[in-house]
Amino acid sequence: MTVAKDRKALPAKLLSKLPAGSLRVLQISDTHLYADATERLAGLNTDQSLLQLLQHARNNILPVDLVLVTGDLVHDATASGYQRLRDHLLTLDAQTYCIPGNHDLNPVLADNINCNRISTDTLHKHENWAMIMLDSTIPGKVKGHLNNEQLGRLKSALDDHPEYNILISLHHQPVPLGSAWIDKLALDNPDDLFSILDQHNNVRGVLWGHAHQPYDGERNGVKLMGSPSTCIQFKPGQDEFGIHQSPPGLRWLALLPDGRIETDIEYRSNTPTELDLASTGY
Ligand SMILES: [Fe+2]
Repeated sequence: MTVAKDRKALPAKLLSKLPAGSLRVLQISDTHLYADATERLAGLNTDQSLLQLLQHARNNILPVDLVLVTGDLVHDATASGYQRLRDHLLTLDAQTYCIPGNHDLNPVLADNINCNRISTDTLHKHENWAMIMLDSTIPGKVKGHLNNEQLGRLKSALDDHPEYNILISLHHQPVPLGSAWIDKLALDNPDDLFSILDQHNNVRGVLWGHAHQPYDGERNGVKLMGSPSTCIQFKPGQDEFGIHQSPPGLRWLALLPDGRIETDIEYRSNTPTELDLASTGY
């Protein structure tokens, strides 16, 4: 089947007409919560921004089968930040997997986010799809790297699941975005990732966050998908850091039984008025 790319059609309508065996997924990225729920990032209250976007998802997208949270969960990596995020994510009522971003601290994240429906596990299988979650963080650094342990785990997971359609998630973008400052902070060894993917013909997509902007591309038949943040967006296509006047957003995906992926970005309908557009960093 073909799902119409009609921006006027609500994703919920599209997602309700999928063939049996399809998987409905929500990607949430770069929530940047703080210990203090009133804290702002570039003028925007990240807690309220996430809550409003989740309400938008509730009205327009849900229910989904799976939620993937792709890093920078808590800006100050605090236990209370993760606990509040956990409580917000539980309202989506779906199995949820979280991977770290450069702002996260793995032990604090794992200790405070794991519960009955939220997990830091790195593999999830549903019908004929397998999701592989990778940790691309380098402790103390902003840029990303897939170390030998992560690359070995990826290779083993792919070798073990040749009959599954594969969706891979990581925090850092593995492709240049044409914006010098964020390209310097990308995954620094994308060739190691792609050389493994090239040895398998069942990888269907790669998902990331980090760049706070959407990206939709393709490489050797694999969909490459970057997603906006649930709070501030970075101005695309310019070499210096800048805040883009774009609403918070998330990505929905429909994973079809034949291996195809239907996907689009869904933005909150109104642009936040409190954004500090003169902000020079985050
Ligand atoms: Fe981020």
